[in-house]
Amino acid sequence: MSDESRAVRTAVVIPAAGRGVRLGPGAPKALRTLGGTPMLIHAVRAMAASRAVSLVVVVAPADDAVAVKHLLDEHALPERTDYLVVPGGENRQDSVRAGVEALPPDIGIVLVHDAARPLVPVDTVDAVVQAVRDGAPAVVPALPLADTVKEVAPPVEAGGPEPVVATLARGALRAVQTPQGFERDLLARAHASVTAEVTDDASMVEQLGGAVVAVPGHPEAFKVTRPLDLVLAEAVLARRRANDGF
Ligand code: CTP
Ligand code: MG
Repeated sequence: MSDESRAVRTAVVIPAAGRGVRLGPGAPKALRTLGGTPMLIHAVRAMAASRAVSLVVVVAPADDAVAVKHLLDEHALPERTDYLVVPGGENRQDSVRAGVEALPPDIGIVLVHDAARPLVPVDTVDAVVQAVRDGAPAVVPALPLADTVKEVAPPVEAGGPEPVVATLARGALRAVQTPQGFERDLLARAHASVTAEVTDDASMVEQLGGAVVAVPGHPEAFKVTRPLDLVLAEAVLARRRANDGF
């Protein structure tokens, strides 16, 4: 790591303001527990485990911002890591924008990480930061697909089967995870100007014509979306705890 790259402070914006509709009824997804600890706390700790990360900006459900601040106050982070909490918006894009707008001026690199990916390994976080420091303005962690992916058209009759119109070449496809890493100015510009609905931040950079590169992701960076994902997350956590001997 060069002296120049050391001078650039890195922050992470953690969008955590979603309801978790696909997970089913209950508390907002980020506040549901895994191994007794809220998913958000796992995600914050996973990001703060990287020595590169000096600030964590949590974007909380608007009604729960005060409760989230208390939650973070209760769970110790490394001394090098500051945190702040801002209220989120209607959709993920609005929430990330709120986090980006809250960044102090001395932040040069920004990671955006879903609270719903609580178990991302620190090596994945570090690999993304390193790729940005090495000169890539936008970086995504990505994995090859296991399933074949087909494009379908709407069913001929409501409720009927969907006609398959194409099979995509799997070898060239990747499933993209977070944390995604960006030069701060580029991400701020993308959030200030792109209004089309997107499902990740890198695609906003793509819409500006910016280059995005992929580095290897990790299976344990999976997103907790549906009830079965909670079962997997609990199992991963239990295995880690057994291996760590506590
Ligand atoms: N998110 C957010 N603000 C929103 C919507 C989503 O900050 N208005 C966050 C979620 O909290 C999550 C991340 O974006 O950490 C990824 O979104 P997703 O997995 O879709 O979570 P939810 O939107 O909560 O789930 P669902 O779509 O099933 O309701
Ligand atoms: Mg969602």
